[in-house]
Amino acid sequence: MAFEISSEQEMIRLMARDFAKKELEPKAAAWDRQGTFPLEAIKKMADLGLLGMMVPPELGGSGAGAVAYCLALQEIAYACASSAVTMSVANLSTEPLLKFGNKQQKEKWLTGLAEGALLGAFALTEPGAGSDPGSMTTTAVLKKDKYIINGTKVFITHGQYADIINLIARTGQEKGTKGLSAFIVEKGTPGFKIGTKEEKLGLRASNTVELVFEDCEIPAKNLMGNPGEGFKVAMGALDSGRIGIASQSTGIARACLDEAVSYSKERRQFGKTINSFEAIQFMLADAATKIEAAYWLTLIAADRKDRGLKFTKEASMAKLLASETANSTAYMALQVHGGYGYTKDYKVERLYRDARATTIYEGTSEIQRIVIARELIRE
Ligand code: CAA
Repeated sequence: MAFEISSEQEMIRLMARDFAKKELEPKAAAWDRQGTFPLEAIKKMADLGLLGMMVPPELGGSGAGAVAYCLALQEIAYACASSAVTMSVANLSTEPLLKFGNKQQKEKWLTGLAEGALLGAFALTEPGAGSDPGSMTTTAVLKKDKYIINGTKVFITHGQYADIINLIARTGQEKGTKGLSAFIVEKGTPGFKIGTKEEKLGLRASNTVELVFEDCEIPAKNLMGNPGEGFKVAMGALDSGRIGIASQSTGIARACLDEAVSYSKERRQFGKTINSFEAIQFMLADAATKIEAAYWLTLIAADRKDRGLKFTKEASMAKLLASETANSTAYMALQVHGGYGYTKDYKVERLYRDARATTIYEGTSEIQRIVIARELIRE
């Protein structure tokens, strides 16, 4: 396999690194402490084309592709994991329209999302339907030229700030994954309101809210794809989403490793810097090896997407390995810092909390294993 990062992809990586260093890194700790959603920084990311990277230029996107997207997202996550999940979900939110939207829907919403004039969110999960979205109960009932929506969605990333929501709801009588359909719901639609805002362990500068729909009427023409195709729309979007979370995880893991290496050079015990002890060296070596594997596996999945190949299995493998690596590297980095790492004076404390979400959202590690095993058996 010949795989090379092109000079254009490298330029995008460096642009994102420069932006993250100047605009995110100096403020990330304060945003985390105060639970501030960094709206201005997100707008600047939109201006740089970071929120519509998979959308082709004729539809307003940068058309940079999935590999460039992964490289850029890692740099954002290295500086601020919360901004990275916002970037990841914004890009994920372009996928349903890109693949299933008709011409009018693309013109109305996709160009706005890609150019950064609109922010998109993705609403699949419900209080009783997390790993098993097929058990969702939110309904969308067709009445003349309108769908009437009733139900509650939870854990919706930047739901409070989103201009449009990709909503999956039940339209048919069929049980499970059948009978679901995908819609666009615009902010401000009567009957749609923002519910509880979650107080989270980590990723505290990302906004996570409940969305409540009570007799919310939307035009029937907001349906994406055909009635009954909602599960397919959601799973396709999640394939892309998972390479985003794999990139976020790799960025967090790299930040943890760099913090551990640099602290181990300064900290002296038993008359030496602690990086001279093999126990510490082995921890650093193991983490660096896993991060390198996660980095390349993520790019392999992204490259398959760019080449129009199926990448469901590779996206789940990348998400599984990278998110577990983010957690093990965060654990290791905090261990290297000892008691100091357990205080808010050191960056590893925030990274440790931020890493924890990565093995949970966009499919737990257990769900990724199910997807990988099913694809293997199918192949
Ligand atoms: N692409 C397209 N179609 C797909 C697909 C994919 N990747 N995966 C499955 N499908 C299709 C199947 O082919 C099947 O179609 P047919 O009925 O025509 O045969 C249909 O969907 C049903 O598939 P399954 O039988 O495999 O469905 P299942 O109920 O067994 O579930 C699952 C499979 C993989 C466990 C899935 O439910 C899943 O991924 N669960 C995790 C959900 C998740 O990741 N939630 C994250 C929420 S979003 C979030 O976290 C975002 C955020 O804010 C950070």
